Amino acid sequence: MLIDTYGRVATDLRVSLTDRCNLRCTYCMPEEGLQWLAKPDLLTDDEIVRLIDIAVTSLGIEEVRFTGGEPLLRPGLVGIVERVAALAPRPQMSLTTNGIGLKRTAAALKAAGLDRVNVSLDTLRPDVFKTLTRRNRHQDVLEGLEAAREAGLTPVKVNSVLMPGLNDDEAPDLLAWAVEHDYELRFIEQMPLDAQHGWKREGMITAGDILTSLRTRFELTAEGAGERGSAPAERWLVDGGPHRVGVIASVTRPFCSACDRTRLTADGQVRTCLFATEETDLRAALRSDAPDEEIARIWRLAMWGKKAGAGLDDPTFVQPDRPMSAIGG
Ligand code: GTP
Ligand code: 5AD
Ligand code: SF4
Repeated sequence: MLIDTYGRVATDLRVSLTDRCNLRCTYCMPEEGLQWLAKPDLLTDDEIVRLIDIAVTSLGIEEVRFTGGEPLLRPGLVGIVERVAALAPRPQMSLTTNGIGLKRTAAALKAAGLDRVNVSLDTLRPDVFKTLTRRNRHQDVLEGLEAAREAGLTPVKVNSVLMPGLNDDEAPDLLAWAVEHDYELRFIEQMPLDAQHGWKREGMITAGDILTSLRTRFELTAEGAGERGSAPAERWLVDGGPHRVGVIASVTRPFCSACDRTRLTADGQVRTCLFATEETDLRAALRSDAPDEEIARIWRLAMWGKKAGAGLDDPTFVQPDRPMSAIGG
């Protein structure tokens, strides 16, 4: 079991498969990209599968999410999913992706054992997409989403970040579109995890702003208490249901006290939190031929040291050195 001193138990493992991406979202990374991890520093497919095996057999992990950067850029992804699906106990498996390439891979991922996907899409307007992501790939994302639904990678969730002056007027349009296409839409408050360190609390669209905007067109009813569990998204029924909309308010309504996550970076470091300032090196242990029990022990010890919360709204908050694309979203 991965338990910390506050009694939280981590059952959800987020694995970053690469720090690279084929988009350049302005809230994430600069136009020129970043200094990517060198190939020898990345965990190999075998190393990733071994760590997930240890996590499910010895540490109580029940759900595995693959993230990036952009996880579809990892050549061995389908093989990794297939091998994880063969583990006992078999964890739930999901993927968070920008959707480019899903059209090509959705069916193979489903066949390999992936359960579902979350796709990032911030706008319905191709020109705004191009400004936000600095790439002209809007249509690819829409086609990727359709392919995911057709392949049965459901429920398909859509993540949207609203940026002032760019797409902050689009919340009701995005929701109408998501309801029509049967995607579960969630809005995410922008977090201070951009490589450029450009995040400003004052410039952020808050959960409150988003709900006010949505209520101009929809009737929202809060989901009953207790239905949220450890999920970061708070959810509302749209016009009486059955469709729902979520808001992930990491800044204004943090959910750290219910956090059930542990994370693994693409270079094999355990992070106790997105905002942790320290990491624990599992790659070195792997590569020095440590037995499974030793790796499990190091992982447990790392999680025992997990801090109470991220404190994003705290004036003393310090942004982690690594950006989100290198940590895993
Ligand atoms: P499901 O609801 O189970 O599908 O997953 P999820 O919402 O946890 O996953 P997803 O990868 O789609 O992440 C959505 C947003 O939540 C992203 O912006 C993540 O960075 C953010 N997020 C994920 N884990 C954490 C966390 O531990 N803390 C905070 N503050 N945000 C997180
Ligand atoms: N703040 C909030 N969400 C972010 N994402 C990427 N960077 C940030 C940020 N700084 C989103 C992506 C994707 C999810 C994994 O996190 O758009 O949907
Ligand atoms: Fe790529 Fe995701 Fe960062 Fe956008 S937010 S540049 S899709 S890693």
